[in-house]
Amino acid sequence: MSIPKFNTLLLEVTDHICTLTINRPDKLNALNNQVLDELAEAVDFIEGNDDIRAVIITGSGEKAFVAGADIAELSTLDEESGTEAAEKGQNLFSDIESLSKPVIAVVNGYALGGGTELALSCHIRLATQNAVFGLPEVSLGLIPGYGGTQRLPKLIGRGRALELILTGRMVKAEEAGSLGIANYVLPGKDEALTKAQELIGMMTKHAPIALSGAISAIVASQDYEAEDGYVIESNIFGDLCGTEDFKEGTGAFLEKRKPKFTGN
Ligand code: COA
Repeated sequence: MSIPKFNTLLLEVTDHICTLTINRPDKLNALNNQVLDELAEAVDFIEGNDDIRAVIITGSGEKAFVAGADIAELSTLDEESGTEAAEKGQNLFSDIESLSKPVIAVVNGYALGGGTELALSCHIRLATQNAVFGLPEVSLGLIPGYGGTQRLPKLIGRGRALELILTGRMVKAEEAGSLGIANYVLPGKDEALTKAQELIGMMTKHAPIALSGAISAIVASQDYEAEDGYVIESNIFGDLCGTEDFKEGTGAFLEKRKPKFTGN
């Protein structure tokens, strides 16, 4: 099998398990356009390769799974390009969720914004003790735009999702476990990878066609009524990219200061 090479991802295949590592540790693995494009290429490779029976997605370095969409790139968006950017992320994450083989996120540190949304698009989430989940987009004058407003309420219920998205607060591993965001909490990355391999072993002894059928049916159950929800999410995300508060929120992050929102 010839393994594709990427600039911002590491892709390895061992014992029929593909491990995909987001690899921009100096920017806490933030999702810029190149990462999103390479992830899309990797997803196509994984889907088309029968030798791969399951996938693990994780982040490189000690600190982060993925600290969100790249705020430097976000800050340049306007209403039209903002809607397009949200649709691009939504489509990629839907493709991950719809992969015909099990996908496990090993969340090894900060999983904020697009990082939590990426983890939510995986079928199972394993958190290390230092994992931190959260959807802090309101602090940037935005809403989650890569499916977070649609997947989080379905996973943990509307009330809990509203609390997390409206406060933007960060959730540590233990709480993520009790909320049902993380299936298991493990001490560190090695233990989480071992747990992922154990779960994959339990899955891949079963018929691959039954696994892909179960994934399709469960994804279809969640997508009922959801089509419009994703369109509403990307349109509101785009509208917000045209506001003063969005310029202020992203500008404040990049200038390392607190934002002053005015409601415009
Ligand atoms: N986009 C772009 N760059 C990011 C980033 C993001 N989402 N998250 C972190 N970075 C960059 C920082 O700008 C910094 O770059 P620099 O060294 O060139 O200045 C580097 O990654 C390290 O981050 P830093 O903020 O210094 O680390 P920290 O340990 O002090 O804080 C976080 C860690 C995760 C709390 C903080 O980086 C953060 O709040 N990130 C943004 C989270 C967010 O709002 N995500 C949602 C986006 S939709």
